[in-house]
Amino acid sequence: MPTATKSRPKSNRELIFGDLWEYDPAPETADPKLKSRYDLFINGQFVKPKRGKYMPSINPGNEVKLADIAVADQDDVNAAYAAAKKASDGVWGKMSGLERGKYIYRIARLLQDRAREFAVAETMDGGKPIKESRDFDVPMAAAHFFYHAGWADKLEYVAPGREVKPHGVVGQVIPWNFPLLMLAWKLAPALAMGNTIVIKPAETTSITALKLAEIFQEADLPPGVVNIVSGEGPTGAAVMNHPTASKVAFTGSTEVGKIIMRALAGTEKKMTMELGGKAANIVFDDAPLDQAVEGIINGIFFNQGHVCCAGSRLLVQESVADAVLEKLKRRITVLRVGDPLDKNTDVGAINSKEQWNRIDELVKSGVKEGADLHQSACKLPPKGYYYRPTLFSGVSMSHQIAREEIFGPVLSILTFRTVDEAVEKANNTAYGLSAGVWTDKGSRILKMSTELKAGVVWANTYNKFDPTSPFGGYKESGFGREGGRQGLLDYCKVV
Ligand code: NAI
Ligand code: MG
Repeated sequence: MPTATKSRPKSNRELIFGDLWEYDPAPETADPKLKSRYDLFINGQFVKPKRGKYMPSINPGNEVKLADIAVADQDDVNAAYAAAKKASDGVWGKMSGLERGKYIYRIARLLQDRAREFAVAETMDGGKPIKESRDFDVPMAAAHFFYHAGWADKLEYVAPGREVKPHGVVGQVIPWNFPLLMLAWKLAPALAMGNTIVIKPAETTSITALKLAEIFQEADLPPGVVNIVSGEGPTGAAVMNHPTASKVAFTGSTEVGKIIMRALAGTEKKMTMELGGKAANIVFDDAPLDQAVEGIINGIFFNQGHVCCAGSRLLVQESVADAVLEKLKRRITVLRVGDPLDKNTDVGAINSKEQWNRIDELVKSGVKEGADLHQSACKLPPKGYYYRPTLFSGVSMSHQIAREEIFGPVLSILTFRTVDEAVEKANNTAYGLSAGVWTDKGSRILKMSTELKAGVVWANTYNKFDPTSPFGGYKESGFGREGGRQGLLDYCKVV
């Protein structure tokens, strides 16, 4: 697909070697064991949707249809909640934490056994590079199940001196950027706490969720403990609004988060929201610049920039701004963009045509508002939704690309002179999910991490995650935490 620019500079490699040298393809060949059709997972069984409606799931890397995915309507969601309620009252809510933990450990181990298969399926359905799904998404998902399995028989330490009780049935809706990992983030703490679940994966990426349902069957998880209802926005609304859910958790756009909050205002339901972000990655002139450049690249191009905590606003101190921009321009020419299944690919496919269009629209707005565009000159595959790694310099705070979440491989670069100006600019956003600070001074790191209004602040690194570490936002990035002891508190009643 064409991108916003027509003429583009040649990459260093093209200048030196022309088209003579090219890497051989190194595709991952493990069998993802896909089915041609995926039904809903309700009460421990795969069942057809009551209205018989299905939607296609496309491989964004080559635009080929992978499978038909069931679309749940209100009746299906009702059936899922009935199964969850029965499992909550009859089995899961009564079971000892020690026993629940055994099931969760089993799920973690079975996922590890089938890790390669899940990684390939995740990459084909969502477009992320295989090296990320293989080395990050799947191992991290297993780690979340392991970590929370360990908590299941130690819940008296979640709120020491107080008693904790499960909510009962919880409803969850997740996005398409980390389909399996977000599923694990949502399911593992809820299960450890003794809740049962109705969850909806995102419409473009339901396959690994429904593959995980196969693992629930293999693990003998009691029927109804986890119910997976695939579908689009209306299915999500039915999951969030259902009267049986005593707690709901949502990860996705701030726009939809607000719709859900409005719909649930005045009800007794507990809520947690993990919404968008527009993180500042702040580079001071005393930072190790080459390391910072790697952190900036990882911060914005990891998962094609489809990351809520992506370092999408680079704030760089004026005295080193030119040097950093030159290094970044050079660095993006060697990012390998292309077949997500190729083990050498750094940047895969944009998750959907809709998202590609949204990114391109925002990039065009950046050009129109006067920012300077720099794009990688790499060759893009003829089919699939690929977007060139993009930098914008000369960005000011009023530009749309400095304010809105682009959720794509697009970095907006701004400059600052003093520490106070960096803090002021970093916090001048509706969001507050994450931030990065690059400096040699420990005292400055401490000052910045106190003053930045962001749930996570990384220092001299970026995009580091661990199940033990709580993650969540300030302001329009949402509320509630996922991971660690704090994450468990959001899935229980403290009595
Ligand atoms: P979205 O917020 O519409 O989708 C997330 C999930 O919400 C999906 O499972 C979707 O089916 C569900 N959903 C949609 N409407 C719903 C409703 N009324 N009630 C309940 N659930 C509903 O996000 P979308 O449209 O895919 O992406 C648009 C933009 O949102 C992106 O460009 C990005 O900027 C942002 N986004 C941010 C995410 C984050 O983690 N920060 C994740 C996904 C999108
Ligand atoms: Mg897909």
